[in-house]
Order: sequence, then C-alpha cells, then structure tokens
Amino acid sequence: MTTIDGSGPGSGVSTPPFLSSISRRTSISLSLPASRRGSGTVPTMTGKDLPFHHRTHEDEELPHATKKTMADHLRKYESLFTLTPQRMRMIVDAFEETLDKGLQKEGEVVPMIPTFVFGWPRGSETGSYLALDLGGTNLRVCLVTLAGGGKFEITQTKYRLSEEQKQEEGELLFDFCAKCLKTFVDSYLADFDLQGAAIPLGFTFSYPCEQERIDHGRLIRWTKGFGNPNVEGYDVAAMFRASLAKHNVPVELVSLINDTTGTLIASQYVNPRTRIGVIFGTGCNAAYMERIGNIPKIKHLGLPDDGEMAINCEWGAFDSFTHEHLPRTKYDIDIDQTSNKPDEQAFEKLISGRYLGEIFRLVICEMIDDGSIFLGQNTYKIEKPYVLETAFLSLMEADPTEELLTVVGIFTHFYGLETTLAERQFFRALAKLIGTRAARLSACGIAAIVSKMGYLEQGCDVAADGSLYSKYPGFPDRVHQGLFDIFGPKGNNIRTVHAEDGSGVGSAIIAAMTNERRAAGLFPHC
Ligand code: GLC
Repeated sequence: MTTIDGSGPGSGVSTPPFLSSISRRTSISLSLPASRRGSGTVPTMTGKDLPFHHRTHEDEELPHATKKTMADHLRKYESLFTLTPQRMRMIVDAFEETLDKGLQKEGEVVPMIPTFVFGWPRGSETGSYLALDLGGTNLRVCLVTLAGGGKFEITQTKYRLSEEQKQEEGELLFDFCAKCLKTFVDSYLADFDLQGAAIPLGFTFSYPCEQERIDHGRLIRWTKGFGNPNVEGYDVAAMFRASLAKHNVPVELVSLINDTTGTLIASQYVNPRTRIGVIFGTGCNAAYMERIGNIPKIKHLGLPDDGEMAINCEWGAFDSFTHEHLPRTKYDIDIDQTSNKPDEQAFEKLISGRYLGEIFRLVICEMIDDGSIFLGQNTYKIEKPYVLETAFLSLMEADPTEELLTVVGIFTHFYGLETTLAERQFFRALAKLIGTRAARLSACGIAAIVSKMGYLEQGCDVAADGSLYSKYPGFPDRVHQGLFDIFGPKGNNIRTVHAEDGSGVGSAIIAAMTNERRAAGLFPHC
C-alpha cells in the first residue's frame, strides 16, 4: 500500500480550471448554511494533512443519487462481496487440499516452495548483517545487529520503486539494488575496518523462487505487477551477485529468502508461539514450518524425515487458471484480464493492497457509466486505471467526521469530483465490503494451514506484516472474526500478531543461521 502525499495529483486546494461545472456550482453552494461547507484539513494515517474544501449540496439542481438509490446499490454490492461462513469453509477445504498437492510434486499451481531454512532460530544468533529487501513497492536496505536473546537493532533506508523500474530490463533492476546497497555501505559502514572481509548479506526477494539451496533461487514468475524481462527462469541470486561485483559492493550474498519466511523466523526469534508468517501488503502470501518427511517432492535429497524446513507457500496463486473456488466478481475478472499476468495470482488479486483500490474504482466507474453517480461532472481523472490507491479505502473507512470530510477531500482533491453525503456513505460502505472480503479470504488461507498442521486445539500465533495488516482499520479484527466464523469459538485460539520488520530482521537471522551451519560443515543441505 502506498502513502498519500498531499502533493499528489489534484491535491491543490483551489478548484482546477478544467472543472468549470464544479466552479459554477461553488457559487450555488454559497447559499447553503455556513455549517455545511468550509475548507480545512483532516489528518491522515501517514501523519500528513489532507486538505478538503467542502460543499454539501443535497438539494441543488445537478443530478445526484438519492439516499434511496444509494441504499439499493449497496444491497447489490453487499450480495456480491459478502462471504458466508459456509462458503468460507468450502474455500478452506479446497485450499488445504491444494497445499498438500504442492508438497507432493513440482509444478503445482501453489508451489509450496522448500526454502532450505532448517528449523527455528535458537534466539542466540548474533552479529551484524546487511539485509536487502525487494518488496512490491519499496526497496529497503537494512543493517541489522543481532544481540542474542531475541534482541536486535536495525538501521535502514527505503527507496520507492517507480512503475518503470518494475518493467525495465532485469539486469538494470539488480544494478539499481546494488547501487542502493553501495550507497548505504558507504554512508553507514565507512568507519568500520572490514579488513578485506565481505559483509554478509541476506537478500529478501519476495517473488516465487524455486530453490536448490539457500543462496540460490530461480524465479518462477513475477507477481505484483513486476514484468522485468530476462529474470523469469533465471537464478536471481546469481544475477544480483553479478550486479554487486559490477559495482564493487563489498558484500557476500549468504541467503535468499521470501518476506513471509523472514517474518516467520523473525517473529519466532522473539515469540515462540509463532507458527505461521503472513504478509498482507502489495502482495499476499504465507510461510510455515513443515516436517521434512511431509515434503515428498524433496525425498531425493535424503534429508532426515524428522528435520524441519520452512515452506514458502506462495498461496497468492491459489485457484489460478481454473478459478473453481473463489467468488470472483466481474470487477475481479476485469482486473485479472487486464493485468500483465492474466489468470495468475487469483487469490492475491482479491486480497492484496495492489488491487483493492482498483476493485473499488471499477465499481465506481460502472456506476458512472450507468449514470448512477457524478452525472454532469467531469470524471476522466477517476477513470484512469489504478489511480485510486488502497490507502484511500483505509482513509475512507477511518473517516472520523459525521459528514465524511476525508471522503470529500479524496474525491475533490484527487479526482475533482463533488459528492453528496449519501454518496460518501455509500463509498465508505463499499470500501468496507471490499476490505472485509479481503480479510475473510485471508482468514481462509490461515485456516487452511492451521487445519493442515493441526494447530487449532493448542492454538498458535500468526506473525503478520504488510501495510494492509498494519494500516487498514479493523483488518486484524476482521481476520479474527473470519477465523471464528470458520472454526467456531476455537478460532479464538489462533491469534495474528503484528511482526514488524520481518523481512529485514528475518533475513539477518537466516543469514546468521546459514553461517552457523556453514561453520558446522552442514551447508548446503542440512
Ligand atoms: C507475492 C509474492 C510473494 C510475496 C508476497 C508478499 O505474493 O509472489 O513471494 O511473499 O507477494 O510480498
């Protein structure tokens, strides 16, 4: 999820000149009672103020939807987006079966990737490690110092990736990562006398990669809108090493991990009740610890059956291609078919931060097309794909004002559109429907792992991170409600816990675990 920046498109307080109809209506609204209009700012979740200029006009002459018609619309969308407990349990059953299949053999839709992370950390891992985290929205570079006893310190910088960078030649993307890392090393580690030694690096690369060992990973496919050519099918660790060498960065890539695996391990480092790691961010995925004997597809490696290995599920791919189990609406199908990866990541496209705003926008566009809202207003700004960020849904749901002034601000300043209170109430309710469906589907994924692993009776913690989980109001509660609806009161035994910085700290812990195994002569396979 991205943050709202007051300097974004259309964020100026004055009405843009092209909205002549709106300017005209400004003068009409001047006759309304003073209490029903005004300008000001409302605080956003990002700490920035969102400016609003408020003109309420329930009874003016340009056509607007009435309370009654908005209620009719809402009923229709309620039936489209609501998931009953019964439907959820059906999804959980199919999900569990799919997870099992993925462990049996290679090439399954949900790939259930063995990560070569062997068991839990001891909590006593120590040392300083660099971690580079290439997520869906940002690139983060971290210096993590593990102090043992579950304690750590972290220094980090973050770079926002542009949409162009997500499509450029793969080598350029890795070169960019190497350059950012070099800048970080030069600014934070210049005073360290490394005595010629390379600094150990954990690389968190959060896309599905098939691994033969922990310092290797062949990209199966890009997800989250990335499409950089000449990376799919290649070992991304080797590609990144080449970029590091090209830019003379004095680091040694020790381990390549997924953000979910990092979250799982980092959370266990401080909380031994953790059994599952989940990311609800630009993408959506989970990892958990599996008994090696239960992973038939790696039997040929001859690892001890009773050992443990973390599995990166890549559950975002659940129901891809066949679309048998998930309740897709026509908006979901539209997003899927116009994406750079049609038919893939079917589960993720209903849940993750990359898509929720777009689902909302498509509903709005349909209502514009059938003349239900914004009649007579210039709607071209909101008709552009992906201009409505998921962060706006969070803001709408969190609007504390009776007149929904945050919603006013969003529509006026980002899209130049005026709204009535009835419309704003509808938009907020629609955001809630889309956000709630995402949380309840997420609960289905968690429930599938819980049920497969038999964690329900004893209960466990699910380490969760990502902007949807940490910033979307009520998201964790809705996941918990979903677990209750699936399992009944025992669902309360499963608790999600916010695990911050898993992809950075987890990467460092795993690099430390890997170095310990190397020192003990256990690398690469056990
Ligand atoms: C996508 C990626 C996956 C990652 C998730 C969360 O689903 O394929 O690897 O864990 O996003 O970032």
